[in-house]
Amino acid sequence: LSKEELSINTPVVITCNEQRREVSAAQNIANKQIDRTFVFDKVFGPKSKQQDVFNHAVVPLVGEVLDGYNCTIFAYGQTGTGKTYTMEGGGGKTQDGELPSDAGVIPRAVKRIFDILEAQSAEYSMKVSFLELYNEELTDLLAPDESKFSDDKSKKPMALMEDGKGGVFVRGLEEEVVSSASEIYKILERGSGKRKTAETLLNKQSSRSHSIFSITIHIKECTPEGEEMIKCGKLNLVDLAGSENISRSGARDGRAREAGEINKSLLTLGRVINTLVEHSGHIPYRR
Ligand SMILES: Nc1ncnc2c1ncn2[C@@H]1O[C@H](COP(=O)(O)OP(=O)(O)O)[C@@H](O)[C@H]1O
Ligand SMILES: [Mg+2]
Repeated sequence: LSKEELSINTPVVITCNEQRREVSAAQNIANKQIDRTFVFDKVFGPKSKQQDVFNHAVVPLVGEVLDGYNCTIFAYGQTGTGKTYTMEGGGGKTQDGELPSDAGVIPRAVKRIFDILEAQSAEYSMKVSFLELYNEELTDLLAPDESKFSDDKSKKPMALMEDGKGGVFVRGLEEEVVSSASEIYKILERGSGKRKTAETLLNKQSSRSHSIFSITIHIKECTPEGEEMIKCGKLNLVDLAGSENISRSGARDGRAREAGEINKSLLTLGRVINTLVEHSGHIPYRR
């Protein structure tokens, strides 16, 4: 609970059992105590540190990315549940190249990638992009500000295209070539700063938008036969919109539904993941 919540004696309704991988929610409805328990693949209790989450959930994926695979990590949950804290961190400053203990998944993944590549004296190139999806419109969080006074240029919507190889890309998206971890921390700060500015301009935008930080790595390798080969891996780190914005039925009375209140892409993502988990035929990627 936050300090504020503690000061007004907010009751604790969530309990975690890390061993049994369970989370229980206590509910009191009409004086009836109804507890519900959910089982997960892994539960991080309230004492968990950023480092624990990173080591367990992210380190294996960083290895796969360096082996040339594409991996995506999503933070999902209601607004205020700690998605941005988990992905970006608590705002602590990097000192002498050491990350603060509250650093999130993104800076930790970046540091680990560079540490591994440096240790291998690998020949590589790396680029990053940072974009936001709000109301089905894409915004480049790394685009240079063309004008300080007009917000619409740097936030012009971009088109999502297929690359013909089974992948997608965003036309005109700024991809910055980076050669050190500290460069990426600066870029991350710039991008998330932009997200926050937009938030004050456009009430609560960040709770309704997804942000996607992508790291693309090309590594040069030599096969045993002495042939040169380029391995390409990509890591997508996604801070999803608040899950309070999805409505399964989509049916609501009245026409005055606020823009973005029903987040189509989040709803579709849920459906896609469900069909993938259930192995049930058609996967609605294109909805
Ligand atoms: N594990 C944590 N430890 C300490 N503070 C946290 C933690 N997770 C979230 N917070 C704090 O709670 C508040 C809401 O978290 P935030 O990451 O902004 O939520 P979300 O992005 O899901 O809306 C922030 O002030 C954040 O610093
Ligand atoms: Mg957030």
